[in-house]
Formats: sequence, C-alpha cells, structure tokens
Amino acid sequence: MMFAGKNIFVTGAATGIGRATACYLAAEGGHVFGAGLDGDEGRELAASDTTGRLAFRESDLTREADVQAAVAAAKERLGGLDAVVNCAGIYPTGKRLEEVSDEEWDRTIAVNLTAIFRVCRATLPLLRAAGGGSIVNIASVHADATVPGVPAYAATKAAVVGLSRQMALDYAVDRIRVNALLVGSVATRMTLDGLEAAGGAEALGLSFEPNRIARIANPSEIATAIGFLISDAASFVTGSAMQVDGGLLARLL
Ligand SMILES: NC(=O)c1ccc[n+]([C@@H]2O[C@H](COP(=O)([O-])OP(=O)(O)OC[C@H]3O[C@@H](n4cnc5c(N)ncnc54)[C@H](O)[C@@H]3O)[C@@H](O)[C@H]2O)c1
Repeated sequence: MMFAGKNIFVTGAATGIGRATACYLAAEGGHVFGAGLDGDEGRELAASDTTGRLAFRESDLTREADVQAAVAAAKERLGGLDAVVNCAGIYPTGKRLEEVSDEEWDRTIAVNLTAIFRVCRATLPLLRAAGGGSIVNIASVHADATVPGVPAYAATKAAVVGLSRQMALDYAVDRIRVNALLVGSVATRMTLDGLEAAGGAEALGLSFEPNRIARIANPSEIATAIGFLISDAASFVTGSAMQVDGGLLARLL
C-alpha cells in the first residue's frame, strides 16, 4: 500500500498508460481521480474498480471549463490533492512540417502542452494546501530523438520537459516536485496505431522481443515508474527528465 493516504489526479486515465497508472495507484492504496476523453472506457474503468478508490470524469482538457470542473470534482471527492499525473496526449503521425495544417498543429499543442499548463495551474493550489506534492508530466523519448513525420508531437514533448524543469524550480519553495518522464514505446493504442501508419515495428527498428533492449513496454512498467516519482522514495528527485525507455535512447543503430 505504497500510496495509502495519497490523493492523485490522473489525466488520460481512460486508456493506455493513464489507465494502467490509475489502476496501479488505486491498487496500492491511493485515491485516484481520473479525467480525460474516451468516456465509455473511463466509465467502464470506474465501474469495474474493486478498490473503491478510483473515480473518472469525462473531460476535454483543452477546455478551461472542463479542467476547472474536473479539479473541483476531484477536490470535492478527495478533499485535496497530493499528486498530479499528466498522461493525456495525442500522436499525429506521417507528415512533414509543410503538410501539417494549422488545425492539427494547434490541436497537438492544445492537448500535449496547454492542457498540462492548465491542469497544473488548477491543481497547484491544492498541492500547496497539502503541504507539498508531486507532479509527473508524461513526455516522450521524442523530446530527445525522433522519427520522421511527427513535428508537432516532437515539439510538444520537448516543451513538456522544459515546462517541467521550470516548474520544478519555481515550486520547490512550496515543496512541490515536478518531473518529466521520457517514455519509450509502450503497447497502447497510440503506439500500435502509429506503428501501423509507419509500416510496422521493423520499419522503426523496434522489436517486440521481450529480451531485447528497446522492446515495447507494457503500460504497467510505466505506471510503476510514475509511482516512484509520486512516492516519498523520490523525495530528492525534481526537475528531472527520467528515461523509461528500455534503453531506446542509448541505442545508436
Ligand atoms: N504509447 C507510447 O509508446 C508512448 C510513448 C511515449 C509517450 N507516450 C505518452 O504517453 C501518454 C499516454 O499515451 P498512451 O500511450 O497511453 O495512449 P492512449 O491513446 O491510450 O492515451 C491517451 C489518452 O489521452 C486522452 N486524451 C486525448 N485528448 C484528450 C483531451 N483533449 N482531453 C483529455 N484527455 C485526452 C485520451 O482519451 C486517452 O485516454 C501520452 O502523453 C503519450 O504522448 C506514449
């Protein structure tokens, strides 16, 4: 019960990494409030929860009113917040910069970057009121290295690292730690759809082989890393961009 007594807000909680994180944190004693799109999956997640510690609210976090409403609902249900995990994201692929429309560019920035800004702005007072806390922003290996055809995604993930570092400095005084996670390939619909669009795992030099470096991760392997950053075991970890990528960025060829 690593997270007993902790109240945690998780975005993108209906599917993938966010869902695995919400389940892991609740199973380990945390009280979790999930927010995000994919309402059917989110409601199913909350309905199938056996811990009694997991709630979900359908929210479009690109809308300030939805952010405000979700954070207010989390406060009402949990009484406060000790941690925030920003998992919501989109991954538009297959276009060089000239082919990216204004709409796709703006949408990617809105989901992958501005929503984090807004969720942090809305939740920081609750973390401060709790005497401190932890924010984990899910970036990507794309912040440091990339693949062809994802200019908006790569730009937003690098920006998430910069934003996290800045917040770590500015909120240390409030005992709020802020870290980014450079996540490698994870077996969620985001990757599986992206791989299909790119012509398969081999085309990107990835392997599903379980004993190979840079294999595809199970979402639960990201959830436990997020859990570490939330936990008091990470009390001296802030401003970091932690790689959880199976050695992907270590690989030259
Ligand atoms: N899967 C990977 O290989 C991988 C690698 C690196 C980073 N990431 C990052 O991990 C995070 C989670 O992705 P995932 O792999 O679990 O994919 P996913 O598609 O399963 O999850 C993305 C979640 O974001 C939510 N979302 C999208 N737009 C939203 C909006 N406007 N408001 C609220 N919620 C919204 C979706 O409902 C979904 O639940 C993303 O930030 C992604 O960029 C994933």
